Amino acid sequence: MRIDVVTIFPEYLEPLNVSLVGKARAAGRLDVRVHDLRGWAHDRHNTVDDTPYGGGPGMVMMTGPWGEALDQTLADGYEAGARQPVLVVPTPSGRPFTQAVAAELSARPWLIFTPARYEGIDTRVTAEYATRMPVHEVSIGDYVLAGGEAAVLVITEAVARLLPGVLGNAQSHADDSFAPGPMASLLEGPVYTKPPAWRGRGIPDVLLSGHHGKIARWRRDEAFRRTVEHRPDLIEQADPAAFDKKDREMLSILGWQAGPDGRFGRNPDAMEE
Ligand SMILES: C[S@@+](CC[C@H](N)C(=O)[O-])C[C@H]1O[C@@H](n2cnc3c(N)ncnc32)[C@H](O)[C@@H]1O
Repeated sequence: MRIDVVTIFPEYLEPLNVSLVGKARAAGRLDVRVHDLRGWAHDRHNTVDDTPYGGGPGMVMMTGPWGEALDQTLADGYEAGARQPVLVVPTPSGRPFTQAVAAELSARPWLIFTPARYEGIDTRVTAEYATRMPVHEVSIGDYVLAGGEAAVLVITEAVARLLPGVLGNAQSHADDSFAPGPMASLLEGPVYTKPPAWRGRGIPDVLLSGHHGKIARWRRDEAFRRTVEHRPDLIEQADPAAFDKKDREMLSILGWQAGPDGRFGRNPDAMEE
C-alpha cells in the first residue's frame, strides 16, 4: 500500500517510523511519503491560509497550495505505478472512523491524507478531487483536535495492522473488538497472562482448563458483559440473527430481552431490581 500525507507539520508524522507501521515500512509492505504543504506556497511567508468568506473567527486553508500539492502528489504516484487513489480527509464533520472503515481502506492500494489546521480546508478542494477519486471525510471522534495529523496516525495504524503480513498472527485482528463478521460486533473481554497469581489475584479457572469450547464460550460471555457495560448501543444495533441460544441466555442474565422487532434492549423490569 502507498500512503501520501500532505501537511504543514511533516515532523508530526515521525511516529510512522516506529513500531508496527515502521516495521511494515521497513518490510516494504507500506510505502509512506510525507509532503510539506508549504512547499506549494508562493509568497515569502509561505502562506497557506486566509480569512474566511462570510467573516468569523479563525483562518481557512487556501485552495491554491492544496490543489498544486495534490496534483503533484497524484502525478508522482501515478508515475511510480500507484493506482486507484483514495483521498482521506480527516475532519470532525466527517463520518465516524470505525473498524469497518479501516477494513474498507485497507483494501485500497493508495491513500492520500489531507490533515488540516485552522478551521479546515476550503471546501472546493474536496469537491474538486471528488470528481476524480473516492473521497472519505472521516472523524476519529466527537471532539475537536487542533489539526488532522493525529487523526492520520490513528487511521494509518488501524489500517496498517489489517494489511496482509503486518501482524504476526492474522487471527489476532479477527478476534479484536469491533471485528466485522457474522458474530455481531462486540467489545473484546478481559485478557490475562503469566504469572497465574499476582497480588492475590488469580485468573479464571476456565482459561487453564484447556477446553477450547468452554474457553470460547467464556470469552464470548465476557465480551457481552463488557459490551453491555461500555457500549450498549452495539447490542441494540446488532442483527439478532447474530445471537445464538447461549448468547441469548447470557443477554437475559445481563438483563436484556428481545423486543417486538427481535432486537435486544434492556429489560426495564431487570433494571429496577
Ligand atoms: C480545529 S480543527 C477544525 C474544526 C472545524 N472548525 C469544525 O468544527 O469542524 C482543524 C483540523 O483538525 C482536524 N481534526 C480536528 N478534529 C478532528 C477529528 N475529531 N477527527 C478528524 N480530524 C480532526 C481536521 O483536519 C480539521 O480540519
